Amino acid sequence: MKDTGYKKWMIYVIATIAAMGGLLFGFDTGVISGAIPFFQADFNIDDGQVEIVTSAGLIGAILGALCCGKLTDRAGRRKVILLAAIIFALGALWSGFAPDFSHLVTARLFLGIAIGISSFAVPLYIAEISPAKSRGMLVSMFQLMITVGILVSYLSDLYFADESSLSCWRPMFYVGVIPALILFVGMLLVPPSPRWLMSIGKEEECLSVLRKVEHPDLIESSFEQIRTEIRKDDSRQGSLKDLAQPWMRNALIITIGIMFFQQCVGINTVMYYSPKIFLMAGFDGAVSAIGASVGVGIINLLFTILSVYFVDRIGRRKLYFTGLSGITISLLALAASFLFTTQLGEAGKWISFLFIFLYVGFFAMSIGPLGWLIVSEVFPQKMRSLGTSIGSLTVWFFNAIVSFTFFKILRIFSIPGTELVSGEGSQENPAGVFLFYAFIAILAIIWGYFYVPETKGISLEKIEAYWRKGGRPKDLGKERK
Ligand code: BGC
Repeated sequence: MKDTGYKKWMIYVIATIAAMGGLLFGFDTGVISGAIPFFQADFNIDDGQVEIVTSAGLIGAILGALCCGKLTDRAGRRKVILLAAIIFALGALWSGFAPDFSHLVTARLFLGIAIGISSFAVPLYIAEISPAKSRGMLVSMFQLMITVGILVSYLSDLYFADESSLSCWRPMFYVGVIPALILFVGMLLVPPSPRWLMSIGKEEECLSVLRKVEHPDLIESSFEQIRTEIRKDDSRQGSLKDLAQPWMRNALIITIGIMFFQQCVGINTVMYYSPKIFLMAGFDGAVSAIGASVGVGIINLLFTILSVYFVDRIGRRKLYFTGLSGITISLLALAASFLFTTQLGEAGKWISFLFIFLYVGFFAMSIGPLGWLIVSEVFPQKMRSLGTSIGSLTVWFFNAIVSFTFFKILRIFSIPGTELVSGEGSQENPAGVFLFYAFIAILAIIWGYFYVPETKGISLEKIEAYWRKGGRPKDLGKERK
């Protein structure tokens, strides 16, 4: 049993190194918020141009997810993550050096490609190298590192922010080079995915990786399972046409569905606009800026730790329904606190404060990590890289839609007579938009009842075999052994 301990240690190190890709994802998403006021003044650009800089990153991410699915099959998961690390490092340097607006846009677009790549290649790699028993926990480390990255970026923005120096935004971007280098060097040291090795016919190498990461009693059976399932596939790489096969339909619906709901419950409106939301709730400038971003970042991180701990213990479905019920209740309470803002007086702003934090917490313990995890689990070997890249594409696509429509939806759903009045005049009440997201969260619960599979402790090969048999997602966990 002693050497099992050693192997356990090994897989944690491997997963942590790969999850640095998540840290960079989070860092490069978050860093922009603190840099905006400074480069806007430095380059003398308007709000529309700032929006172009921000969306360049999202478009880059879409491109990264769109173009690299196949490459991940051909070159291997590890090499593609190495490529992302190089792009992360160069992109961070380029963003920091950018002499003008157009350079900054191109640099952010370039960096976005790495975010897009790492968002599917990292969970894919971790899922394929992890033993079934701890796969949930290990893949959820990706989300954990996203939240660490977001928090680090807020803190480092705070550290470098200097009202007396317009160019203080440059070091904010440079910091991103450090985790990129760690990711690069680390990925040179970890082994390739054993399942990918098997898929390109390297059986011996596959076995030798399994020896390092799998429990000694399970090495043989895992190896046989992987070999059997891969032999069932006629050709090595999956194509979009293969996705249309009826037995693949569940994996596709689960992937697009869970990522649609992950984004459409509105999480990134809080991630990107929390200072504004806190202002609407009645907080003053300084408290909202620091309290909102750092506080939200800390809650996000703490609740993700909870999820990492529980995901292989209580399972995916329980976490999903607990989290989404919490999200729904928090959003309804948030809407109520905004609707009755005059009646609630001073208490109202603290109630909104509490429920924004709870909302982020419930997201962080459920659909945040579960989205990435389940997508990395449900596809058969041959389709996994294409499938996970579709998952990332769905995330980035709906992320863009939700972030760019927040203020428009806010206006559309504003309830007449409930305008918020502050020192700066009156503005629309966000109660309606939170009710709208609560409605989507309720749909997510209903959808989840049918489509969220209990993949806890089941090997990727057994999940594949289950779909081939025509099993329903909601009954997957019941088919133990
Ligand atoms: C989502 C991101 C979000 C982050 C917040 C991730 O799971 O995909 O869009 O910003 O969670 O922690």
